[in-house]
Amino acid sequence: MGKDKKITLIIGGGIAAYKSLELIRLLQNAHIEVIPILTKSAENFVTTLSLAAISKKKVYSHLFDLNDETEMGHIQLSRVSDLIVVAPATANLISKMANGLADDLASTLILATNKKVLIAPSMNVQMWNKPATLSNVKKLKEYGFLFIGPNTGDMACGEFGLGRMAEPSEIKDKIMASFQNNTLLNKKILVTSGPTVERIDPIRFISNNSSGLQGTAIANALVNLGAEVVFVTGPTNVSHPIGAKIIPIESAKDMYKAVFSNGPYDVAICAAAVSDWHVQNDSSRKIKKKDSNSKPNIELKENPDILADLSKSKNRPGLVIGFAAETEQLTKNAKEKLISKGCDLIVANKVEKKSSIFGAKNNEVTIITNDYMEKWPEMTKTEIGEKLGQLIVKYCH
Ligand code: C5P
Repeated sequence: MGKDKKITLIIGGGIAAYKSLELIRLLQNAHIEVIPILTKSAENFVTTLSLAAISKKKVYSHLFDLNDETEMGHIQLSRVSDLIVVAPATANLISKMANGLADDLASTLILATNKKVLIAPSMNVQMWNKPATLSNVKKLKEYGFLFIGPNTGDMACGEFGLGRMAEPSEIKDKIMASFQNNTLLNKKILVTSGPTVERIDPIRFISNNSSGLQGTAIANALVNLGAEVVFVTGPTNVSHPIGAKIIPIESAKDMYKAVFSNGPYDVAICAAAVSDWHVQNDSSRKIKKKDSNSKPNIELKENPDILADLSKSKNRPGLVIGFAAETEQLTKNAKEKLISKGCDLIVANKVEKKSSIFGAKNNEVTIITNDYMEKWPEMTKTEIGEKLGQLIVKYCH
């Protein structure tokens, strides 16, 4: 894959511009040809010479340069590659793209292109969070522009937060995914994962054995297929999926809030083991044995059902997937769950009395929809994630 592929890489004027050299190298290793374009301000961060040396290509930067125009006009330049990548995309470049400005070579190419554009934003956290930037990003997503990142982390300015450019390897993976035929590119997918934790007091809680392995494997598979993944996870010991938006939560109520404030989604996969109840009278101080007459009074109240509420929400995802762990009558109970929750597909696991799926590497699931049922043989949770990813691709196309 990728032998004949060519991308135009527009490098904006941000500190992350130095990473473009590594990105070019990674792309070349994947047999992707890169045509570099520098904005004027990017020339302060990387030199034309270093880019030309690494890419072994002519580096374009100025509009209406007579030599460039006779060699390759800007309209032609906007058409020669399979994809235009803007990395780093500064707040200024994003604003220009969202508003159709074309006052230099980079912005003119973006306006003139008939190819997809992938944007890797990079800016200070405050700049990213400004309503103006967020609405520009929203607009661009609606126009069909693809995004990767930004990530959360340390910034060159010494602050910390959302705004770091995605790593070159993540950008490369997204570029590769965009060249595949069956992808989930442009699909925003929710994955809930792991357990929830319901506090009794600052020391004690109610939770469950969910390891988060299956949810993480699914999220990884979806990221690899090019989806924009929102990963809402309870506390686990598993490394978070790279390239997904990670929202760590504790309680079911936190999970509910995170899920409903980050939508809408094209697809939702509720793989989390959500506690059915929370403690209504949780204590802000440690409950002492003597205060509670040796038996604390714990009042449990039912938690909101995220899967059921997503399934009947106004902005219902086109595909809603739930999980069911059952100790008996797997199919019958899973079918009932499909109906009571209003979802489209249930991934059902049989939980044996002795062996446990929680924390195990492998899993054995049955896929159940209204009119279809398929038992998958035992396989690793990673393989289940990949197979489920392929199933979602089929649903989305
Ligand atoms: O009702 P039960 O817990 O068996 O249903 C399991 C499915 O419902 C899982 O997909 C789980 O993520 C989801 N669920 C939820 N919110 C709850 C309870 C379960 O999203 N409060």
